[in-house]
Amino acid sequence: MWAKAVWKLVTMSVLLVAHLNQCRAEKEITVDPPRDLQIMDPGRLGQLHVHWALPPSLENVTDCSVRFQLQYFDHEEERWRVVRTVRLSYSIQFDLEKDIRVRVQTMLRGPCTGGARELQSLPAELHLQPPITGPPDSKIEGLSCIFYQKEYMDCTWTRGRGNPPYAKYHLYFWHEGMEQAAECPEYLHSHGRRHGCRFPGDTLLEFTEFNVCVNGSSSGPQLRPAYFTMQLQNHVKPAAIDGLSLEPLPGGGVCLEWVPPKGKIPEDCLEFEVESVPEGKVGPMLRNVTRELSLTVPDQDLCGGPCFRVRSRVHQFCSDDSFWSEWSHTHCLPESPDCLHTHTEAVILCATAIVIIMLFSLAMCWLIYRKIMKSRKKDILL
Ligand SMILES: *[C@@H]1O[C@H](CO)[C@@H](O)[C@H](O)[C@H]1NC(C)=O
Ligand SMILES: *[C@@H]1O[C@H](CO)[C@@H](O)[C@H](O)[C@H]1NC(C)=O
Ligand SMILES: *[C@@H]1O[C@H](CO)[C@@H](O)[C@H](O)[C@H]1NC(C)=O
Repeated sequence: MWAKAVWKLVTMSVLLVAHLNQCRAEKEITVDPPRDLQIMDPGRLGQLHVHWALPPSLENVTDCSVRFQLQYFDHEEERWRVVRTVRLSYSIQFDLEKDIRVRVQTMLRGPCTGGARELQSLPAELHLQPPITGPPDSKIEGLSCIFYQKEYMDCTWTRGRGNPPYAKYHLYFWHEGMEQAAECPEYLHSHGRRHGCRFPGDTLLEFTEFNVCVNGSSSGPQLRPAYFTMQLQNHVKPAAIDGLSLEPLPGGGVCLEWVPPKGKIPEDCLEFEVESVPEGKVGPMLRNVTRELSLTVPDQDLCGGPCFRVRSRVHQFCSDDSFWSEWSHTHCLPESPDCLHTHTEAVILCATAIVIIMLFSLAMCWLIYRKIMKSRKKDILL
């Protein structure tokens, strides 16, 4: 029996040593990073193609699964973003005015890892600097794009501060489904110079990146190109409302009604702001945001200003951002009889009070006068 126990112990320690050795071996298993990491620019103004190849050491691996961890630096959010994929390429939207930083690691999982859950290689890295052309102040200053009632879009810019006077600008754009960037379909001019671009509705695609580049040439130094990327549904500005009507209610108050603005924005996506405009005063008296097409304003809110106007924008259910439309024309009620009533009442009340106070003062004066006269008479008699 002892012999049996000893034998068992020996077997156990042998097993333990074998296990330890296996652990040591596990530590030595490494994975190679991907090879041939490259970034391609297919001419889409910022959407770049990152691709890489399988390391040769993993070419014939069949019992393990291989995937890749891709990291790239997002300048807008100032952090690294992480993507995991089994593919050998990935498209990423970059800002071409900033440097581009990408890392890819191989990840190995399965029996060939010697027990580890997942093995990770060192990263293959790329760091590209944007080509510097032209002085920084030759770049245009900002781009403002407004998607008017979802029918057409105008993008306008102002010249860079240090711009040479003979600069001629070009705008290029790209969105999903276009093979390559295309030039602006219709330039907008001011004083004979290009300062914007008009896009007809059929060139516009929402809920996807819309990339724009404004570059140009000049007789002097080169112009530095400017790059922008946006989502068009966040740049919508509805048309002004022109169907506002006011209906005085029998029991006092007023009912405002309007029709949704013209254009291609679905009615469910709009919200409206109603403002009362007091006559002869500054600032609104009443402001109410609603998704309905009407609003009832109670009696007591009415006397402040019987004039109203309304405007609209896209509700946050339909986009992250939107522009308010222009205000509608101001519509006024004829002065409400109720208000007139209260006005007259107040005036009568004030007048009565003044008369009462005056009468009272007169009576007091008369009394005092009589008292003085009486005492004087007494003095004379004495
Ligand atoms: C993988 O297999 C192919 C064909 O069987 C062979 O030519 C190649 O050398 C192998 N690669 C490695 C890394 O073993
Ligand atoms: C402006 O950018 C477009 C699109 O990238 C390019 O085809 C064109 O050559 C550029 N023009 C200048 C003057 O840099
Ligand atoms: C706006 O009007 C609605 C309906 O009349 C009302 O329920 C709501 O309280 C009002 N909101 C404001 C901020 O006046």
